[in-house]
Amino acid sequence: MDNLPPQSVEALLESLNCGAMLLDRSGRILIANQRLIEMMKTPLTCLRGRRFEDIYDNEEDRRRVQDRMADFGEAREGEFYLPCVDGTHLPVILSSRTLGAEPPLSNYMVVTAIDLSRQKAAEARLSEDYRTIAQLSDTVLTQALDLKHYSEGLEKMVRERTEEIREANMESIFMLAVACETRDEDTGAHVRRIQHYTEELARTLLLPASDVEQFGYSAILHDVGKIVVPDHVLKKPGQLTLEERELMQRHAPEGERILSNKPFFAVARQIARSHHENWDGSGYPDGAAGEAIPLPARIVHVADVFDALTSKRVYKPAWSREDAARAIREGSGRMFDPKIVEAFDAIFRRGGFNGTTAESVDATSLKTAM
Ligand SMILES: [Fe+2]
Repeated sequence: MDNLPPQSVEALLESLNCGAMLLDRSGRILIANQRLIEMMKTPLTCLRGRRFEDIYDNEEDRRRVQDRMADFGEAREGEFYLPCVDGTHLPVILSSRTLGAEPPLSNYMVVTAIDLSRQKAAEARLSEDYRTIAQLSDTVLTQALDLKHYSEGLEKMVRERTEEIREANMESIFMLAVACETRDEDTGAHVRRIQHYTEELARTLLLPASDVEQFGYSAILHDVGKIVVPDHVLKKPGQLTLEERELMQRHAPEGERILSNKPFFAVARQIARSHHENWDGSGYPDGAAGEAIPLPARIVHVADVFDALTSKRVYKPAWSREDAARAIREGSGRMFDPKIVEAFDAIFRRGGFNGTTAESVDATSLKTAM
């Protein structure tokens, strides 16, 4: 070490809190401090006098060191590694610079090595944790998606079952109504028309779709109470006596009594009891008037009378639609709620209320309604 006090340089390197070595321009290791020896687990004798590049087995790494030595005068820093005597690689930050800008100091390079093994281990742990979290996230996401698909499957199944139950309910309602009406020599057509007319009126009155549907299926059951009326009264072709009329009129409260207390039948019960009530209070069974009569019953009253008028009876032919419509208009404010007659008129003028058939007979509806 020409013109350099070796002891001073050694003392300088030993004072550093990292590995350090001194190289000459040929890349030969002149001095290595104790910390570097500990880091590489290599005796000083194995380092001193060797070229820096020769401590690396890997050709590519040796070339990197050679490149570094070519830029001798330039300070550099970067991540690299130190090969240890036990074959392991110690990750380090290598910094290199010459001892000074002018000769002879510029002929020597100090290389320091800061141990990165703890940081790298921490990075590896973090990376592992990240992978674990990512895998867990994937698992959670997969489970969430599975759950979503399962939930959608259940919802679909519930919808299908609900629809099946609804259809079964509707079918039961229809069968019950037909069973009662059949005694009155009617077919299912009458109750289907009443359902249709009721829905048309409710829709024209701008009621919510759910009400339109409920009023419609409930209207089917308006005359179920006829099941308690004796055949000789129900099928009597002529005028009814006062006693027979009272027996006939029992079908309204009996219909309400027969129907279930379940909410599904709440509107049907109202209709069954009150579909013969008149707006002016002259109807039966309660003599209720105006808006004291439940709305669905007021609607069915119009639908039922129109259907009775336009159907053939044993004592009268079927009225024309126009004559029946005139009778409905004339009944406004007496038999019928004027608002509902207005709705009826609007439907009639646009060609609605045309589901009648001359074969359908509902003599008792006419007898008791008019
Ligand atoms: Fe009736």
